[in-house]
Amino acid sequence: MTETPLRSERRDGFVWGVSTSSYQIEGAARDDGRGASIWDTYCRQAGRVANGDTGDVACDHYHRFREDIALMRDLGVGAYRFSVAWPRVLPHGRGRTNEAGLAFYDLLVDELLAAGIEPWLCLYHWDLPQDLDDLGGWTVRDSAGWFADYAALVARRYGDRVRRFATFNEPSVFTLFGYGLGGNAPGITDASLLLRAVHHVNLGHGAAVDVLRALAPAASIGAIHNWQPFLPSRDTAEDKAAAERFSAYWNLAFADPQQLACYPEALASAVEPWQRPGDLARICRPVDWFGLNHYSPIYARADANSALGFGFGEAPADVERTGIGWPIHPEAFRDTLLAVHRRYRLPIYVLENGFGANEELGPDGDVLDQPRIEYLAAYTAAMRSAITAGADVRGYFVWSLLDNFEWSSGYRLRFGLVYVDYPTQRRIPKASFAWYARLISATPTS
Ligand code: FCB
Repeated sequence: MTETPLRSERRDGFVWGVSTSSYQIEGAARDDGRGASIWDTYCRQAGRVANGDTGDVACDHYHRFREDIALMRDLGVGAYRFSVAWPRVLPHGRGRTNEAGLAFYDLLVDELLAAGIEPWLCLYHWDLPQDLDDLGGWTVRDSAGWFADYAALVARRYGDRVRRFATFNEPSVFTLFGYGLGGNAPGITDASLLLRAVHHVNLGHGAAVDVLRALAPAASIGAIHNWQPFLPSRDTAEDKAAAERFSAYWNLAFADPQQLACYPEALASAVEPWQRPGDLARICRPVDWFGLNHYSPIYARADANSALGFGFGEAPADVERTGIGWPIHPEAFRDTLLAVHRRYRLPIYVLENGFGANEELGPDGDVLDQPRIEYLAAYTAAMRSAITAGADVRGYFVWSLLDNFEWSSGYRLRFGLVYVDYPTQRRIPKASFAWYARLISATPTS
């Protein structure tokens, strides 16, 4: 254990951080015995990902993590949230471990601790081992056990140095888009398979929490939920109903069973066939915090062509938007923080918030991303106002440290505080990097 005091141990206890995920930044997809994930497969299917982009190289973080940690030190963050690539440590998802992959995260964790940055380890940010998907992936009940065994491996290996563990990142997003609406790996659009996946991921969460508690007794554990207000796209009864159903799948399908031991009404009877007696007690295990990702409200519409009867609708024309068209609405963030606080009564860590744009290097070789700065300033102000109104928010992490592989949108969409020049892998801090560094150092610590 390092002697360096962690920067996250500020007197006010508030944690400022940045987040990334394995498939989006690591690259080295075939190095050192890493197995294939469903995203490796998905990226190779024609027409799935913009420009045919893949995570094969991404930000080459696997080889450049020291440089990336040095950037975080310059930024002054107290914490770094990353995910472990399941197929890097268990190439087939279960059974034989891959020592080289495990050793990579040893180095990463040790280097973070030496820099005074607390590692926040997320077990699953969407890169399911392909071999497990071949067995049915999240649509089969065994997946909960596979996940728990993987969690045990990670807890045993890193639990002496890592305290913060998250089970899943945005379970609603990867299940909805992976199994229901399309757009994410494994690319299934089937309402019944979606419901099975929802339930099995919930079971995997509960099982992993138990394993982490048993094997890493000092662990502080949570799950990371993407939570947004849903608004009807048009002022019609159909769109209002669609917004409500969409919201149940998105906001409640995981957080409610995990925290309140019940499924939301819109899903309850549909999930029933996949439940066994005692399942809700297996899912609802005590956790220490609620990880919240939030970007913007979502406009929903009824859609007869969708497997679920709902889909994304247009936002009103006069709504302010980010560079990639997501509505900007800081008050919705404030309301969300308060709503999550009231509903679940857990300390909240905002583990993703950020601004996406199609940016290019400026003529002087810099990136003056004033709109991102304005977005982050407005959203952090909204967070402060939620805290003043009583929400128990303990930390805020920007998505993302680096520009990276933005799933089916490929590399064109950039969310980083640091610009990545992909052909050379040069890292160029944007204006927002300096802005965030100032915010962190200027925020009073008591
Ligand atoms: C979230 C994902 C993250 C990233 C951001 C922009 O939904 O968790 O990986 O893609 O959106």
